[in-house]
Amino acid sequence: MRRYAQIIGWGRSLPNHILTNDDLERIVDTSDEWIRTRTGIRQRHIATDPRETTATLAIKAAQEALRVADVPASKVDMVIVSTSSPEHIFPSTASLVQDGLGAVHAGAFDLSAACSGFVYALSVAHGLIAGGLAEYVLVIGSETLSRFVDWSDRSTCVLFGDGAGAVLVAASEVPGGVLSSVLGSDGSGGDLLIIPAGGSKLPASLETVASGQHYVKMDGRGVFRFATRIMASAAQEAVERAGLSMDDIELLIPHQANRRIIESAMKQLGLAEDRVLIDLDRYGNTSTASIPIALCDAIEEGRVKQHDHLLMVGFGGGLTWAAAVVEWSVPLPLPSTSWWRIAQHSGAFHMAQVRSFGRRALRRLYNVTVGEQEDDNQPSRTVFGRGLRRLRSRLSSGRSSGQQPPKEP
Ligand code: UT7
Repeated sequence: MRRYAQIIGWGRSLPNHILTNDDLERIVDTSDEWIRTRTGIRQRHIATDPRETTATLAIKAAQEALRVADVPASKVDMVIVSTSSPEHIFPSTASLVQDGLGAVHAGAFDLSAACSGFVYALSVAHGLIAGGLAEYVLVIGSETLSRFVDWSDRSTCVLFGDGAGAVLVAASEVPGGVLSSVLGSDGSGGDLLIIPAGGSKLPASLETVASGQHYVKMDGRGVFRFATRIMASAAQEAVERAGLSMDDIELLIPHQANRRIIESAMKQLGLAEDRVLIDLDRYGNTSTASIPIALCDAIEEGRVKQHDHLLMVGFGGGLTWAAAVVEWSVPLPLPSTSWWRIAQHSGAFHMAQVRSFGRRALRRLYNVTVGEQEDDNQPSRTVFGRGLRRLRSRLSSGRSSGQQPPKEP
């Protein structure tokens, strides 16, 4: 029986702080008029609270997606976080999100494909589900690029915003869901959009920091030219691969980088504005988060109906591009969830925090007390030592308590 990958849950999370174009006029030599006419952006959300990070935004968006789908985190098989502003080089942000959600049976990894990343991750989720390797995959795009932007560089700091969007993709026998995808890359253009330092090629040093090499550097015109060329062709190819024509597409959800880029794609594809979702005026360019955030907006605005064909197209650093066609299968609007289910979900999310805290505390306690001196071949002399050893073996076996058997294709 063929397995389809259906989006059954969705959510987004945005930092509270809003930075308007007027605010930016006080920071750099720019104007509301320039930003609006050259990009279409009016404001963006910025994570000013240091406790708000790429992982916390991702967790909130994913919790919302799980709530909408009414699926517990324990059922998720894989967490994919697409991001260009990860918490660390390692561990992956996805692992932190998996822990924060209490997705105790899930694998987790980050996906780096810049602004195209969400569509890349959606395509990977489709593959995992179609191949029988997963039943539920959380696909999250999350960014706090404001922390990698040089706030004295007017050519980049006016563009980006922070936020996260997530979808829960589920295996289904109902035809529809992800129908096609197109993924592309041209690394010869890698230097057009880059954070030069902080990786293995140019590790962070006093010099790299002093020269601002850890900030986003962009050849705006170069990326603009690439984007206006690639968006329409990737979109067209994804539609053809789905066995459809552009007339069958009810809604285009493009990466929200620049209104002029989107308008150029609309023109080339012959799509009028009522078939295109544009929300960059409110959020700026949230990179890989822009498409799932826009999907949530489209649903909220009543612009998505059951059996609609949605076309998602992203492009960005790498250079990369990605397009996918999704046949929407969930009837909308959703019936309201009972207060009891909502309470159950928030209870489970709180328990996940308690569990995470407990595991960290036990690990620390073990290391401080017996950890390094203990020879595993020798029996512990005290009841306390034996108890800790048992706990340690449970901690190191990680998911052993609920490990699911591998699924056969
Ligand atoms: O998410 C994917 C990655 N990013 C993108 O997709 C971005 C793609 N590129 C773009 O969206 C556009 O190229 C930008 C919005 C970044 C720039 O727009 P542009 O129309 O290509 O402007 P430009 O870079 O050609 O600059 C035109 C002028 C320059 O002044 P001069 O040299 O003509 O005197 C810039 O210095 O605008 C100036 N400028 C600004 N002026 C006021 C550049 N940034 C600003 C600014 N405020 N913030």
